[in-house]
Amino acid sequence: MDMIFRQIRTKQGCQSYMIGCKETCAAIIIDPEISQMEHYQGLATQDGLVLHYLLDTHTHADHFSASKVLATKMDVPLIMHNSSPAPFVDIRVGDGEMVIVGQLRFRILHTPGHTADSMCVIMDDRVFTGDTLLIGGTGRTDLPTGDPEQLYDSLFNGLLKLNPDLIVYPAHIYSERSHSTLEEEIANNPRLQKTHRDEFVEQMRTLDLKMPTHLTEALRTNLCGGKNVSQLIAEAAKKVSFMAQDEVLRRIQSPHPDMLLIDVRDKEAYDQAHIPSAIHIPRGQIELRVNDMLPDPTKRILVYCECGKISILATATLKEMGFRRAVALDLGICSWKENDYPVEKSG
Ligand SMILES: [Fe+2]
Repeated sequence: MDMIFRQIRTKQGCQSYMIGCKETCAAIIIDPEISQMEHYQGLATQDGLVLHYLLDTHTHADHFSASKVLATKMDVPLIMHNSSPAPFVDIRVGDGEMVIVGQLRFRILHTPGHTADSMCVIMDDRVFTGDTLLIGGTGRTDLPTGDPEQLYDSLFNGLLKLNPDLIVYPAHIYSERSHSTLEEEIANNPRLQKTHRDEFVEQMRTLDLKMPTHLTEALRTNLCGGKNVSQLIAEAAKKVSFMAQDEVLRRIQSPHPDMLLIDVRDKEAYDQAHIPSAIHIPRGQIELRVNDMLPDPTKRILVYCECGKISILATATLKEMGFRRAVALDLGICSWKENDYPVEKSG
């Protein structure tokens, strides 16, 4: 099979796959992840591929899908299962249907259980199993729309009946391995050793797993196409410039300081310790208070917060409002204190 195959993994073990047709240069990404957005675009350019489709094997609850943003940015349709609740899906597919990418054919196998909209995608000698089947594990069934009975059917009466030589590429790998095979999983995967329905279901019901971090945020953004906090901060950061801590210290200690410092944390934090000369405008009040507190839009303004994230959002807001010389303190007052730079108390 003439294809270009790229497996992209994050530090947390999320796997995504870019598969391109050598003949036509058309490509698809399966389970794109938000932190890899630039990586995908770079790889596609490097490999001379043009992205035709994005596909999510299911509604992810534990990481942030890049599908919505990538689909909009690159003007490519997003494919998910018919039962996916996300309103921004462009092509909804069902069991037995096929997606054609150049000369490559991807067959859809609906495998509910981890989520109701889970599917596996079979292409030539390999199967992308999403979170239905992992190396040495299976997806959990205790998150929204999960169902251990359905997972049993999807595995034992579906996926595991396919050609055992199929190479398994899951959506998560928690080891150094890159793939497995169905045969290997049937033989060695501890969860698949419970081959009777009741035993399998009981096993899934008693796993007692920790809730994934960012569960609510991941479900919100993956279902509604909204942005997560890191995205908001990254977007704002593209609009602002920063000032190093030692430069700020030098300026406030100069005989003629020419900079207004704004502390955007809450009042209690400001009162306990703030950078000398800083005034207090909490982040949520900026738009309301600028006319009274910042009458000169040409003034050099430095914004800071506790750890250097919220100040980026606040600085971007000020710039949008016309304060062109607003900059954000690199890192926040916690680093300032670690540097043993001076602070003041109020009250
Ligand atoms: Fe998942």
